[in-house]
Amino acid sequence: MTATVLDGKAIAAKVREEVAREVAEFRASSGKIPKLVVILVGDDPASAVYVKNKQLACGKAGIDSELVKLPATTSQQELLDQIAAQNADPATNGILVQLPLPASIDAKTVLDAIHPLKDVDAFHPENVGLMVQERPRFLPCTPHGVLVLLHSAGIQTSGQHAVVIGRSEIVGKPMAALLVQKSVDATVTICHSRTRNLAEICRTADILIAAMGKPEFVTGEFLKPGVAVIDVGTNRVGDKLVGDVRFADALPVASFITPVPGGVGPMTIAMLLKSTVQAARLQAAAGH
Ligand code: GUN
Repeated sequence: MTATVLDGKAIAAKVREEVAREVAEFRASSGKIPKLVVILVGDDPASAVYVKNKQLACGKAGIDSELVKLPATTSQQELLDQIAAQNADPATNGILVQLPLPASIDAKTVLDAIHPLKDVDAFHPENVGLMVQERPRFLPCTPHGVLVLLHSAGIQTSGQHAVVIGRSEIVGKPMAALLVQKSVDATVTICHSRTRNLAEICRTADILIAAMGKPEFVTGEFLKPGVAVIDVGTNRVGDKLVGDVRFADALPVASFITPVPGGVGPMTIAMLLKSTVQAARLQAAAGH
Protein backbone atom coordinates (compact mmCIF):
# COMPACT_ATOMS: atom_id res chain seq x y z
CA MET A 1 0.00 0.00 0.00
CA THR A 2 1.18 3.51 -0.76
CA ALA A 3 -0.39 6.09 1.50
CA THR A 4 -2.49 8.93 0.13
CA VAL A 5 -0.66 12.13 1.06
CA LEU A 6 -3.24 14.49 2.57
CA ASP A 7 -2.98 17.92 0.98
CA GLY A 8 -3.55 20.19 3.97
CA LYS A 9 -2.91 23.25 1.84
CA ALA A 10 -5.73 22.44 -0.57
CA ILE A 11 -8.20 21.53 2.18
CA ALA A 12 -7.24 24.67 4.13
CA ALA A 13 -7.81 26.76 1.00
CA LYS A 14 -11.41 25.47 0.85
CA VAL A 15 -11.93 26.36 4.52
CA ARG A 16 -10.50 29.81 3.88
CA GLU A 17 -12.91 30.38 0.99
CA GLU A 18 -15.75 29.44 3.32
CA VAL A 19 -14.40 31.87 5.93
CA ALA A 20 -14.20 34.66 3.34
CA ARG A 21 -17.91 34.10 2.62
CA GLU A 22 -18.69 34.17 6.36
CA VAL A 23 -16.75 37.43 6.71
CA ALA A 24 -18.72 38.98 3.83
CA GLU A 25 -22.01 37.91 5.47
CA PHE A 26 -20.91 39.30 8.83
CA ARG A 27 -19.91 42.61 7.27
CA ALA A 28 -23.20 42.86 5.43
CA SER A 29 -25.30 42.17 8.52
CA SER A 30 -23.30 44.11 11.13
CA GLY A 31 -21.38 46.72 9.16
CA LYS A 32 -18.25 45.61 11.03
CA ILE A 33 -15.01 43.92 10.02
CA PRO A 34 -13.75 41.07 12.21
CA LYS A 35 -10.36 41.83 13.73
CA LEU A 36 -7.64 39.60 15.18
CA VAL A 37 -4.89 40.98 17.39
CA VAL A 38 -1.76 38.83 17.60
CA ILE A 39 0.61 39.51 20.47
CA LEU A 40 4.18 38.38 19.95
CA VAL A 41 6.65 38.68 22.81
CA GLY A 42 10.35 38.37 22.03
CA ASP A 43 12.11 37.49 18.81
CA ASP A 44 11.83 33.75 18.30
CA PRO A 45 12.30 33.47 14.50
CA ALA A 46 9.89 30.51 14.11
CA SER A 47 7.15 32.38 16.00
CA ALA A 48 7.73 35.44 13.81
CA VAL A 49 7.12 33.29 10.70
CA TYR A 50 3.94 31.73 12.15
CA VAL A 51 2.59 35.13 13.12
CA LYS A 52 3.29 36.56 9.68
CA ASN A 53 1.47 33.64 8.04
CA LYS A 54 -1.52 34.18 10.34
CA GLN A 55 -1.68 37.86 9.38
CA LEU A 56 -1.38 37.14 5.65
CA ALA A 57 -4.20 34.61 5.91
CA CYS A 58 -6.38 37.15 7.75
CA GLY A 59 -5.85 39.69 4.98
CA LYS A 60 -6.83 37.21 2.27
CA ALA A 61 -10.03 36.32 4.12
CA GLY A 62 -11.04 39.97 4.63
CA ILE A 63 -10.23 39.93 8.35
CA ASP A 64 -8.38 42.90 9.88
CA SER A 65 -5.29 41.99 11.86
CA GLU A 66 -2.85 43.83 14.03
CA LEU A 67 0.48 42.64 15.35
CA VAL A 68 1.46 43.86 18.80
CA LYS A 69 5.17 43.18 18.98
CA LEU A 70 6.69 43.38 22.45
CA PRO A 71 10.36 43.00 23.39
CA ALA A 72 11.66 39.86 25.15
CA THR A 73 12.22 42.00 28.23
CA THR A 74 8.45 42.71 28.58
CA SER A 75 7.25 42.01 32.13
CA GLN A 76 4.26 39.83 32.86
CA GLN A 77 2.37 42.88 34.14
CA GLU A 78 3.06 44.81 30.94
CA LEU A 79 1.70 41.91 28.93
CA LEU A 80 -1.38 41.68 31.20
CA ASP A 81 -1.92 45.43 30.71
CA GLN A 82 -1.78 44.96 26.93
CA ILE A 83 -4.34 42.14 27.15
CA ALA A 84 -6.61 44.29 29.34
CA ALA A 85 -6.46 47.04 26.71
CA GLN A 86 -7.41 44.59 23.95
CA ASN A 87 -10.19 43.08 26.10
CA ALA A 88 -11.64 46.58 26.48
CA ASP A 89 -11.31 47.56 22.81
CA PRO A 90 -14.60 46.81 20.99
CA ALA A 91 -12.75 46.75 17.64
CA THR A 92 -10.69 43.73 18.77
CA ASN A 93 -12.64 40.49 18.30
CA GLY A 94 -9.89 37.89 18.73
CA ILE A 95 -6.74 37.94 20.85
CA LEU A 96 -3.95 35.45 20.20
CA VAL A 97 -0.84 35.44 22.37
CA GLN A 98 1.77 33.52 20.40
CA LEU A 99 3.40 30.72 22.40
CA PRO A 100 5.97 29.99 23.69
CA LEU A 101 6.36 33.03 25.93
CA PRO A 102 9.70 34.01 27.51
CA ALA A 103 10.46 31.89 30.61
CA SER A 104 9.97 34.89 32.91
CA ILE A 105 6.25 35.01 32.06
CA ASP A 106 3.69 32.50 33.33
CA ALA A 107 1.69 31.43 30.27
CA LYS A 108 -1.35 30.23 32.23
CA THR A 109 -1.75 33.57 34.04
CA VAL A 110 -1.56 35.37 30.71
CA LEU A 111 -3.96 33.08 28.83
CA ASP A 112 -6.46 33.22 31.72
CA ALA A 113 -6.53 37.01 31.34
CA ILE A 114 -7.89 36.92 27.78
CA HIS A 115 -11.63 37.65 27.67
CA PRO A 116 -13.32 34.28 27.06
CA LEU A 117 -15.35 35.71 24.13
CA LYS A 118 -12.08 36.85 22.46
CA ASP A 119 -10.17 33.62 23.14
CA VAL A 120 -9.79 32.36 19.58
CA ASP A 121 -7.21 29.75 20.66
CA ALA A 122 -9.75 28.24 23.11
CA PHE A 123 -7.11 28.03 25.84
CA HIS A 124 -9.15 29.81 28.56
CA PRO A 125 -10.39 27.29 31.16
CA GLU A 126 -14.00 28.36 30.53
CA ASN A 127 -13.65 27.51 26.84
CA VAL A 128 -11.78 24.27 27.56
CA GLY A 129 -14.63 23.27 29.89
CA LEU A 130 -17.29 24.10 27.30
CA MET A 131 -15.40 22.08 24.68
CA VAL A 132 -15.07 19.04 26.94
CA GLN A 133 -18.80 19.22 27.70
CA GLU A 134 -19.52 19.26 23.96
CA ARG A 135 -21.04 22.74 23.89
CA PRO A 136 -18.09 24.55 22.34
CA ARG A 137 -17.76 28.30 22.00
CA PHE A 138 -14.40 28.01 20.22
CA LEU A 139 -12.37 24.95 19.28
CA PRO A 140 -8.58 24.90 19.60
CA CYS A 141 -7.18 25.52 16.13
CA THR A 142 -4.83 22.58 15.59
CA PRO A 143 -7.07 19.78 16.91
CA HIS A 144 -10.03 21.33 15.06
CA GLY A 145 -7.94 21.40 11.89
CA VAL A 146 -7.06 17.73 12.33
CA LEU A 147 -10.76 16.82 12.66
CA VAL A 148 -11.62 18.73 9.48
CA LEU A 149 -8.71 17.05 7.69
CA LEU A 150 -9.90 13.58 8.75
CA HIS A 151 -13.45 14.39 7.74
CA SER A 152 -12.48 15.92 4.37
CA ALA A 153 -10.42 12.85 3.51
CA GLY A 154 -13.38 10.59 4.33
CA ILE A 155 -11.44 8.85 7.11
CA GLN A 156 -13.90 7.04 9.33
CA THR A 157 -13.58 7.82 13.04
CA SER A 158 -16.61 6.14 14.61
CA GLY A 159 -15.51 3.08 16.58
CA GLN A 160 -11.94 3.46 15.35
CA HIS A 161 -8.99 3.32 17.72
CA ALA A 162 -7.26 6.71 17.72
CA VAL A 163 -3.93 6.93 19.50
CA VAL A 164 -2.69 10.42 20.35
CA ILE A 165 1.00 10.74 21.23
CA GLY A 166 1.49 13.87 23.34
CA ARG A 167 -0.52 15.41 26.19
CA SER A 168 0.01 19.13 25.65
CA GLU A 169 -2.74 21.64 26.43
CA ILE A 170 -2.45 22.94 22.84
CA VAL A 171 -2.78 19.67 20.94
CA GLY A 172 -2.75 16.31 22.75
CA LYS A 173 -5.39 16.85 25.45
CA PRO A 174 -7.92 18.78 23.35
CA MET A 175 -7.33 16.41 20.40
CA ALA A 176 -8.32 13.46 22.59
CA ALA A 177 -11.39 15.35 23.87
CA LEU A 178 -12.58 16.07 20.32
CA LEU A 179 -11.98 12.53 19.07
CA VAL A 180 -13.98 10.97 21.89
CA GLN A 181 -16.97 13.33 21.57
CA LYS A 182 -20.31 12.14 20.21
CA SER A 183 -20.45 12.34 16.39
CA VAL A 184 -16.71 11.63 16.15
CA ASP A 185 -16.97 8.54 18.38
CA ALA A 186 -13.39 7.28 18.31
CA THR A 187 -11.96 5.08 21.04
CA VAL A 188 -9.05 7.15 22.28
CA THR A 189 -5.72 6.31 23.88
CA ILE A 190 -3.37 9.10 24.98
CA CYS A 191 0.31 8.20 25.12
CA HIS A 192 3.18 10.32 26.44
CA SER A 193 6.84 10.21 27.44
CA ARG A 194 6.17 7.82 30.35
CA THR A 195 4.02 5.38 28.39
CA ARG A 196 5.28 1.79 28.51
CA ASN A 197 5.28 -0.22 25.26
CA LEU A 198 4.65 2.91 23.20
CA ALA A 199 5.34 1.35 19.79
CA GLU A 200 3.19 -1.66 20.63
CA ILE A 201 0.22 0.53 21.62
CA CYS A 202 0.65 2.68 18.52
CA ARG A 203 0.57 -0.46 16.37
CA THR A 204 -3.05 -0.96 17.52
CA ALA A 205 -4.07 2.45 16.16
CA ASP A 206 -6.41 2.90 13.20
CA ILE A 207 -5.67 6.63 13.43
CA LEU A 208 -2.31 7.74 14.83
CA ILE A 209 -1.83 11.38 15.80
CA ALA A 210 1.78 12.30 16.53
CA ALA A 211 2.03 15.51 18.58
CA MET A 212 4.96 15.22 20.92
CA GLY A 213 7.45 17.46 19.14
CA LYS A 214 10.26 14.95 18.62
CA PRO A 215 11.68 14.89 15.09
CA GLU A 216 10.95 11.61 13.24
CA PHE A 217 10.33 9.75 16.49
CA VAL A 218 7.54 7.62 14.99
CA THR A 219 9.17 4.95 12.84
CA GLY A 220 7.91 1.91 10.96
CA GLU A 221 7.58 -0.23 14.10
CA PHE A 222 4.81 2.11 15.37
CA LEU A 223 2.61 1.59 12.33
CA LYS A 224 -0.09 -0.97 11.57
CA PRO A 225 -0.63 -1.47 7.84
CA GLY A 226 -3.46 0.80 6.73
CA VAL A 227 -3.21 3.25 9.65
CA ALA A 228 -4.12 6.89 8.97
CA VAL A 229 -1.18 8.99 10.22
CA ILE A 230 -1.61 12.63 11.22
CA ASP A 231 1.71 14.33 11.90
CA VAL A 232 1.32 17.47 14.01
CA GLY A 233 5.08 17.88 14.56
CA THR A 234 6.92 20.87 13.15
CA ASN A 235 10.57 20.47 14.09
CA ARG A 236 13.43 22.47 12.66
CA VAL A 237 16.39 20.19 11.99
CA GLY A 238 19.20 22.21 10.47
CA ASP A 239 17.46 24.21 7.75
CA LYS A 240 14.76 21.59 7.22
CA LEU A 241 11.29 21.19 8.74
CA VAL A 242 10.49 17.63 9.73
CA GLY A 243 7.51 16.08 11.47
CA ASP A 244 7.25 13.72 14.43
CA VAL A 245 6.86 10.84 11.96
CA ARG A 246 9.53 9.41 9.68
CA PHE A 247 7.65 10.08 6.46
CA ALA A 248 9.56 7.52 4.39
CA ASP A 249 8.57 4.77 6.86
CA ALA A 250 4.89 5.75 6.82
CA LEU A 251 4.47 6.19 3.06
CA PRO A 252 4.57 2.49 2.10
CA VAL A 253 2.55 1.27 5.12
CA ALA A 254 -0.12 3.84 5.99
CA SER A 255 -3.44 4.49 4.23
CA PHE A 256 -3.07 8.27 4.72
CA ILE A 257 -0.22 10.51 5.85
CA THR A 258 0.02 14.26 6.32
CA PRO A 259 3.22 15.85 4.99
CA VAL A 260 5.34 18.34 6.96
CA PRO A 261 5.14 21.09 5.89
CA GLY A 262 1.80 21.32 4.05
CA GLY A 263 -0.32 19.02 6.21
CA VAL A 264 -1.68 20.11 9.57
CA GLY A 265 0.00 23.55 9.64
CA PRO A 266 -2.18 25.23 6.99
CA MET A 267 -5.28 23.77 8.67
CA THR A 268 -4.35 25.40 11.98
CA ILE A 269 -4.30 28.82 10.37
CA ALA A 270 -7.57 28.24 8.51
CA MET A 271 -9.31 27.25 11.74
CA LEU A 272 -7.97 30.37 13.47
CA LEU A 273 -9.72 32.48 10.83
CA LYS A 274 -12.96 30.59 11.44
CA SER A 275 -12.64 31.22 15.19
CA THR A 276 -12.05 34.93 14.60
CA VAL A 277 -15.29 35.29 12.64
CA GLN A 278 -17.05 33.26 15.32
CA ALA A 279 -15.65 35.65 17.96
CA ALA A 280 -16.93 38.65 16.01
CA ARG A 281 -20.40 37.07 15.77
CA LEU A 282 -20.51 36.17 19.48
CA GLN A 283 -19.52 39.69 20.49
CA ALA A 284 -22.05 41.26 18.13
CA ALA A 285 -24.74 38.99 19.63
CA ALA A 286 -23.66 39.99 23.14
CA GLY A 287 -24.04 43.64 22.17
CA HIS A 288 -20.33 44.45 22.49
N1 GUN B 1 2.32 28.21 19.28
C1 GUN B 1 2.27 27.02 18.65
N2 GUN B 1 0.99 26.68 18.41
C2 GUN B 1 0.22 27.67 18.87
C3 GUN B 1 -1.19 27.89 18.90
O1 GUN B 1 -2.02 27.09 18.45
N3 GUN B 1 -1.59 29.06 19.47
C4 GUN B 1 -0.71 29.94 20.00
N4 GUN B 1 -1.20 31.04 20.54
N5 GUN B 1 0.59 29.76 19.99
C5 GUN B 1 1.05 28.63 19.43
